[in-house]
Amino acid sequence: MSVKINFVRGDEVLTTTMTVGRTMLDAAKKLNIPEIPAICNGSCNCGTCHVHIDSEWIDKIEPMDPGSMELFMLERSENFDVSRSRLCCQMDIYDVYEGLTVHLIDNRKD
Ligand code: FES
Repeated sequence: MSVKINFVRGDEVLTTTMTVGRTMLDAAKKLNIPEIPAICNGSCNCGTCHVHIDSEWIDKIEPMDPGSMELFMLERSENFDVSRSRLCCQMDIYDVYEGLTVHLIDNRKD
């Protein structure tokens, strides 16, 4: 089973489908999104897969573990927003994520 995933860049929406059980980083890679260089290739070690969750989805996705390495990495980013920042490589895709929308941050500067 696959779900539709949306990455928003200003007024532009980049859409793809991704298999349940894969990650949001897999979806971003499928679209070759330059704002997500993911230089550690999903090891939760670089912070360059940072996105902001769309406000409509914040309460619908699996929450981040407060003691996680993901949060540690995000807190070091100048774009960190406690309510909506996530790392794509740490977000598994579930069947209820049909239409999940995230907003791109330019991680090439981090
Ligand atoms: S790809 Fe490096 S932290 Fe996600």
